[in-house]
Amino acid sequence: MDHVLDRFIADAHAVVTRYEDAAERVTNIAPLMRRLLDSDRSFLQPDHFRSNPEHYQRNAIHISSDGHLSLFALVWLPGQWTPVHDHGSWGVVGIVQGLLEERSYMAIDGEITGDTGIRLRRGGVILLNPGSVTSFVPNPDHIHMTGVAEGLETCVSLHLYGRNMNSFHTYDVAAGTRHLIDLPHQESR
Ligand SMILES: [Fe+2]
Repeated sequence: MDHVLDRFIADAHAVVTRYEDAAERVTNIAPLMRRLLDSDRSFLQPDHFRSNPEHYQRNAIHISSDGHLSLFALVWLPGQWTPVHDHGSWGVVGIVQGLLEERSYMAIDGEITGDTGIRLRRGGVILLNPGSVTSFVPNPDHIHMTGVAEGLETCVSLHLYGRNMNSFHTYDVAAGTRHLIDLPHQESR
């Protein structure tokens, strides 16, 4: 493994070992993500920049063998968006290039315990420049949609999650439902 990436993963593991609380974890990993973005980025290989005209592309960089961490490069062509979703995990996101937009949703009734009768309301928007770092913690689950507006350049972002991110909930806001979606590596759906 590249030494910059090796150090990032080792330091993130140390944070996870030291802190049980998700907020403490993202607080302490956010500066590590900043440092990773400030590095020579030698860990980013051509494979990590693959895009897909059908949907945003999810390229795995590192999946830890104990399942505690996974790091992906996501490549967003203009006009590509996620569905409204959560992660069931904490996460730290850093922007390599382009402008990533995040639209938040709030669960009106607090923590979501079932797959139906979910009332969501639109929250704020955040625009993330190259070098920006953002994070989220679950419970109640962080719900959002993320993407790149039409007419902008391709965006590449790094996403570190507190588990092997092989599934997540997507939400149908109008119907008030959610579904658990399996998420193969290298793919976005
Ligand atoms: Fe997300």
